[in-house]
Amino acid sequence: MILDSHNRIHNYLRISLTDNCNLRCFYCMPEEEYDFTPASRLMQKAEIDALARTFVAQGVKKIRLTGGEPLVRKDAADIILSLSRLPVELTLTTNGTRVHSFMDVFRDAGIRSLNISLDTLQSDKFLLVTRRDQFSLVKNNIRLLLDKGFHVKVNVVVMQGLNDTEILDFIAWTKDTPVHVRFIEFMPFSGNRWTSNKVVTLQQILDTIAQRYDFLPLKGDVHDTAKKFIVPGHAGTFAVISTMTAHFCGDCNRMRLTADGKLKNCLFSQSETDLLTPLRNGEDVLPLIHQSILSKAKQLGGQLPADFQNLQAEALLNRSMITIGG
Ligand code: GTP
Ligand code: 5AD
Ligand code: SF4
Repeated sequence: MILDSHNRIHNYLRISLTDNCNLRCFYCMPEEEYDFTPASRLMQKAEIDALARTFVAQGVKKIRLTGGEPLVRKDAADIILSLSRLPVELTLTTNGTRVHSFMDVFRDAGIRSLNISLDTLQSDKFLLVTRRDQFSLVKNNIRLLLDKGFHVKVNVVVMQGLNDTEILDFIAWTKDTPVHVRFIEFMPFSGNRWTSNKVVTLQQILDTIAQRYDFLPLKGDVHDTAKKFIVPGHAGTFAVISTMTAHFCGDCNRMRLTADGKLKNCLFSQSETDLLTPLRNGEDVLPLIHQSILSKAKQLGGQLPADFQNLQAEALLNRSMITIGG
């Protein structure tokens, strides 16, 4: 079992397969020119397998593959199929542009649920956010997944002046579509142009929805990032991920492996533990894993202040989001 010093059991591992992506979302990529990590410094398939097995032997029950965009990695299908043999719930967070080519892989791997990033329901705004003209592809792929019976959660990072005017459109989408929309408070990461006045808070999101809809809270799992709701009669649901105004660290069970094999004990932790180099040197990584999790801060990597209004993003010591995977 992997325990931290606050008695939290850590049984959920997020593995980033690559920091490469075929979209260019400004809130995720660093502003300056960015070089993707060369293949030699990425975990190879056998290394991912070996590390995943080590974590599973310590009680990990859920593995989420992330990126960058996990499905741009050439051996993504092999990695997914290989990890699916482990006794875990396997799932992915993806930008949705490649899922149509992976339907058989998902089926063979027993994947039931996917999280897809889609910040807008307008194709011109999609181009503005992602710098790629792939709105219809992503929207069609969400439809494809739903038609095949997958549970689909759609991640919407809400930003003031960009897509905050679309909150009600997303709720309208859930009327006849069994999709689970999750509005996410914009979070600061290295180089992502975060400022406090761009954050749309949990309360503001709920107030906006209440202008037009009645809704009820839904019971979730204690480890959920999202506070869930349903508009009675709607086929889908909505939720809010409120890291900035109402964090959910008290029940955190998450660990992250970056694509270059560093263990991050929190999304916002500044310290990282290299597991890949010791693995390549034939050393035992298990003590390193336990030490890392034991040193985990109680909340928000010990980095984010309670009042985000006064936060200067530049003061945070962290990676850019594209190299963490969410
Ligand atoms: P589930 O496994 O479905 O609960 O997924 P998830 O919500 O953890 O994962 P996803 O990759 O879809 O991320 C959705 C949003 O939640 C992104 O903005 C992530 O950065 C954020 N998120 C995921 N895990 C954590 C976490 O441990 N802490 C915080 N603060 N945010 C997280
Ligand atoms: N703030 C909040 N969520 C973010 N994501 C990426 N960058 C940010 C950010 N700065 C979300 C994406 C993706 C998930 C992995 O993280 O929407 O769905
Ligand atoms: Fe866990 Fe850190 Fe996320 Fe809080 S911010 S839920 S401690 S990973």
